[in-house]
Amino acid sequence: MTSLPSSWTNRMAALSTRRYLICLIVVLAVLFLTAVYNFGDSSYIGLGSSSSFRPADDYIIDPSESQRPPLPFYPLNPASPFSSSASSLYPPDKDLPRVFLFLPINSAGAHESPRFCRAIQGAIASGWQPIIFNWDVQEQYQKHKPFGLRDILNSPKYTAGIKEDDLIFMMDSWDVWLQLSPRVMARRFLEYDEDILVAAEKNCFPNSPESHDCRDVPASPVLPELYLEDENPHDLNPLELLPKHANSGTIIGRLHKMREFYNNLTQYMESEEYYWYDDQGAFNIWLADRKVKLDYYNRLFWPAHDDFHNMQFLGTRYPPDPSIFYDMVDDEGSEILPWSLYPPLGHHSLTGQIPIAIHFNGGSKEHLEYWWGKLWWSSDKSRFKPVVRRRMDQGKIRFVTETGYRQESIRSLCPELEIWSQAR
Ligand SMILES: *[C@@H]1O[C@H](CO)[C@@H](O)[C@H](O)[C@H]1NC(C)=O
Repeated sequence: MTSLPSSWTNRMAALSTRRYLICLIVVLAVLFLTAVYNFGDSSYIGLGSSSSFRPADDYIIDPSESQRPPLPFYPLNPASPFSSSASSLYPPDKDLPRVFLFLPINSAGAHESPRFCRAIQGAIASGWQPIIFNWDVQEQYQKHKPFGLRDILNSPKYTAGIKEDDLIFMMDSWDVWLQLSPRVMARRFLEYDEDILVAAEKNCFPNSPESHDCRDVPASPVLPELYLEDENPHDLNPLELLPKHANSGTIIGRLHKMREFYNNLTQYMESEEYYWYDDQGAFNIWLADRKVKLDYYNRLFWPAHDDFHNMQFLGTRYPPDPSIFYDMVDDEGSEILPWSLYPPLGHHSLTGQIPIAIHFNGGSKEHLEYWWGKLWWSSDKSRFKPVVRRRMDQGKIRFVTETGYRQESIRSLCPELEIWSQAR
């Protein structure tokens, strides 16, 4: 047996003594700090008993909370409409209603800026087949919006291919970006169990804030705390308000209900008593009168005015809803896909929702430029461009004409888009 050199043994002894000392110091430090911590909190000085620890009052956790059995995630989510029987949320795709997207715009409005064609790019990349109406209206196509849609819904020459239970989705044409597909829309619409859903926004425009139309709207089911910057009583700033007023820029409903609704709406707008310029005044009045239902969770539509600071863009597995089967079913491949390769989608940082439509309403218009490039279908990243290009090449757009519909290629409608000069 070879004996160890004595210098080595000495070094070992010195080392273990040093380790021993370090351990001792650490243990003493922990004991000391624990004692000081508990002393600062109460007169109790002791070790180990964490029950003596009292956190600051506003963070006290109800001890009964931890006794409760874990509940399923969705009914608890304060920012989701999931409520009743979950089974209705999972019909097979073939049983979903189809969704028909109608966009009101005239040719002058469409060519005023790149905004309209960019919105079209988002719709096409997200799997939609937009139908444009009011194209030949000479002026104020915005005002003609409800009348144009009414005429379409009333005429078999336009609705012949649409079932009475299919969904009619009308959205403003150049300031709304779609980031999820018609299939996701159909499923989320079913979650609410309503005939018609209108976007919920924070401000009551154009009606007077003191009027019945603005004051007497239903309370939002969303938890107010979600939006509060401070939970102590204070005058709320507009950013802290819950979305509970109507925005008429995005609306969806069953064909037979939408027909009835737009007949009612236009009749009301043509009456003596109605004096607002466009249809949103009527939506707010009807909301106060309980004739309209809102997408309070902004799960379908998210109006950005006074709320855009709550939007974040994150790489997201697509489509994001658990009720939807993933297009990417290659388990191994998708599990190891780096997060940054997922397509970026807009997430609401307070509610956690990934809205289907991002609406740059009111004072959020300049975000149409600031946020261009944030979503995957406008991204500069080369991995997304071929997909967008392919979908744009194959995408279809239809126009409402005197006699029915005509089809046009996206390229001929929107020749200026950058995507045409980019890689296939
Ligand atoms: C249309 O108006 C009639 C009469 O007021 C009403 O009974 C009906 O519920 C309305 N329909 C819709 C879809 O708003």
